[in-house]
Amino acid sequence: MRAIYLENINSPFVLIEKEKPTPGPGEALVQVKAAALNHRDVWIQYGRYFTKEYPAILGSDGAGVVTEVGEGVDASWIGQEVVLDPSTDWGDNPRAHSKEYKVLGMPQDGTFAEYVKVLASNLHRKPEHLSFEEAAALPLAGVTAFRAMFTKCGLQAGERVLVTGAGGGVALLAVQFAVAAGAEVWVTSGSDEKIEKAKALGATGGINYKQENWGKELKVKAGGFDVSIDGAAGEGFVQLVKLANPGGRIGIYGGTTGMIGQINPAEVFWKQLAIHGSTMGTNEDFRLMMEFVREKQVKPVVDIVFPLEETEQAMRYMEAGKQFGKIVVKVS
Ligand SMILES: NC(=O)c1ccc[n+]([C@@H]2O[C@H](COP(=O)([O-])OP(=O)(O)OC[C@H]3O[C@@H](n4cnc5c(N)ncnc54)[C@H](OP(=O)(O)O)[C@@H]3O)[C@@H](O)[C@H]2O)c1
Repeated sequence: MRAIYLENINSPFVLIEKEKPTPGPGEALVQVKAAALNHRDVWIQYGRYFTKEYPAILGSDGAGVVTEVGEGVDASWIGQEVVLDPSTDWGDNPRAHSKEYKVLGMPQDGTFAEYVKVLASNLHRKPEHLSFEEAAALPLAGVTAFRAMFTKCGLQAGERVLVTGAGGGVALLAVQFAVAAGAEVWVTSGSDEKIEKAKALGATGGINYKQENWGKELKVKAGGFDVSIDGAAGEGFVQLVKLANPGGRIGIYGGTTGMIGQINPAEVFWKQLAIHGSTMGTNEDFRLMMEFVREKQVKPVVDIVFPLEETEQAMRYMEAGKQFGKIVVKVS
């Protein structure tokens, strides 16, 4: 089979021929139709991810067709169009994952290949309203957005939510989920054009985080927020505390801009804020996310589709940060 190989830290992603995997007991073999990129893949290429097991076939997101099943797996899966839950070994505590927790695409071979072997319990039927490319755009970003916003921050219809960095994969799905849930959605972005695109998806308004005093201006425009969902951290996070309504919740799933600035503790305790760290999601979060997507007919935004052999170019495109929506790789 054709697969994209990352030999070591700072190596380019290259196309290789590799033997097709064989599903073991409890596993299924999926012919990958489409895969999607996450910032995780770029961090891994630079050796900036906590797992460092090279060489590797990356790719945490995939949608395709089941072609074989291992012992103990219901054979009716064969021929089914599926989406893959990338999480395994979360453990027994729904509040936090275990040390054994793994994300598809390092250490296990991922979806940047014509075939991927996964646990059959991680197969989900592809929603009919989604193409393979749209379905591949969903798993990692979708479960991260869903857990941070609903499981952790408990977003309710009618609440006002701020999603930072709306152009990001996780952020954009958070915008779409919040709109679908009936919340009033505001965004920040480094691009006015991306703010307009978020408004076209149902956001009420937004502000460019490159502008000085964006926090103060947003407060005037929108008022305070019941929930904020953030993947950027850095100095901007201080503004999220200032912008929070009493009883507000802030969900943080990433740290793109680094260490958090100086927060006034009184603003946290006096407003009785809850700050929730959130990473990926349990298999139950994933199941609930798929149910939500099906019920609300959410369609993930795909920015661009690259052929498998151009995965390296796709990574550089992601790094440039011009995308609005997910970057997808068409596999077979
Ligand atoms: N914990 C988890 O489970 C989990 C899962 C997925 C991702 N992450 C992390 O979350 C972050 C985003 O991941 P992704 O895959 O969604 O990345 P991505 O699609 O490449 O998006 C990058 C994001 O950074 C935003 N950004 C850059 N500078 C910013 C600033 N100063 N203030 C606010 N936003 C800023 C961009 O917003 P604009 O383009 O709108 O300017 C965009 O949302 C990464 O740090 C990633 O490692 C964590």
